[in-house]
Amino acid sequence: MTEEPPAPDRKPVLYVVVCAAGIAPGVGKLITAAQEANWDVGVVATPQGLGFIDARAIETQTGYPIRSAWRSPGDPRPLPPADAIAVAPATFNTLNKWAAGISDTLALGILCEAHGMGIPTAALPYLNAAQAAHPAYRQSLDRLRSMGILIGSHEPHRPKSGGATDHFHWEEALELLEPLVRTVR
Ligand SMILES: Cc1cc2nc3c(=O)[nH]c(=O)nc-3n(C[C@H](O)[C@H](O)[C@H](O)COP(=O)(O)O)c2cc1C
Repeated sequence: MTEEPPAPDRKPVLYVVVCAAGIAPGVGKLITAAQEANWDVGVVATPQGLGFIDARAIETQTGYPIRSAWRSPGDPRPLPPADAIAVAPATFNTLNKWAAGISDTLALGILCEAHGMGIPTAALPYLNAAQAAHPAYRQSLDRLRSMGILIGSHEPHRPKSGGATDHFHWEEALELLEPLVRTVR
């Protein structure tokens, strides 16, 4: 949990980490809901996730560049520090790598460090039942839960049936984080 409340003149910052799942184009819904709940929102996309979203529209909506690659040494940080993180959608790939401590994308680097920094984090998995049947997936969720990560309730869909028009409860990320972030909001 973040110890220091944000300065009175700045809103708390939510990072939305977007992975490469079929519903990713709808992430603007979560950004809108977060902004309505007084969050300043910065988006971090996985390199694959970047291809699923309208980067220009999101940058206009948030007022920040989307982060996807590491900055060069000496470059300024494009986003203010996070007070909370929502991973939505969270893919099979990123969930398993995160749980294993693999940090080969900027998004994973941020997520792996966030645990040690005590930043409240929620993840909304979106994957199919064939992916979810892999034994590594349950172990990953167990490990992430043991780290205090809050996991969304969306059930895996039938293989080949997911996509941008699927119903997805984006706001669940905010509902999960709410009890953890009262002190910073
Ligand atoms: C059209 C399309 C839809 C996909 N949907 C999903 C999905 O819903 N969930 C998932 O875990 N992977 C999905 N994948 C596979 C991921 O994109 C792939 O595993 C990718 O490497 C994940 O990268 P990331 O976790 O770094 O974002 C999809 C791939 C494509 C091409």
